[in-house]
Amino acid sequence: MNSYEKLLLENKAWASGKLAENPGYFDNLAHLQTPEFLWIGCSDSRVPANEITGTQPGEIFVHRNVANLVINTDVNVLSVLDFAVNHLKVKHVIVCGHYGCGGIKAAVTKTDFKPVLNMWLRNIKDVYRLHREELDGIKEEEKRTDLLTELNVKEQMLNLAKTSIIQRAWQKEQRPDLHGWVYGLHDGIIKPIVEMKAGTDIDPLYEFEHL
Ligand code: CO
Repeated sequence: MNSYEKLLLENKAWASGKLAENPGYFDNLAHLQTPEFLWIGCSDSRVPANEITGTQPGEIFVHRNVANLVINTDVNVLSVLDFAVNHLKVKHVIVCGHYGCGGIKAAVTKTDFKPVLNMWLRNIKDVYRLHREELDGIKEEEKRTDLLTELNVKEQMLNLAKTSIIQRAWQKEQRPDLHGWVYGLHDGIIKPIVEMKAGTDIDPLYEFEHL
């Protein structure tokens, strides 16, 4: 059997298991999606949003990319954010990074990863530059990249707050709250790093009026 065929086989077993537990399982899910959370996480295969939070299908709306970035010109992440905030009406947006992130580690090297990855990782180098003094002061490499992982999550939260999507929802509906978390590959524990309640003041430079 090919490795991908095993996935299809496992899928059949999973679906019949769900039906055995609850014959209406798929009918219910097919009719309604009302997740309370949007999860913006890393694509890393070791950080599956549902599994590590003990949530079921239907509970978390998920977007994942390399190093969990929220980039102003990324139509993909912005579409997900728009849909989650304005249509699904999520109450919380979670940006979850993880220690040991390959994207973060790659960004602090001088390696040329060729155009597309260079473009992507540049955003992490920019986060490093904003906190250069603090990061350069840490001698141990792992501790330094751990801190960069946390600072990167904080920066992505600010990037969320800079969007008119978030600002409009904050002003009109006092939601969603933003949460910055970091997951530990070594112990499976999620550490909350930073929180921005709906309506938190942001740098006026990024504020929109007449939303
Ligand atoms: Co990662």
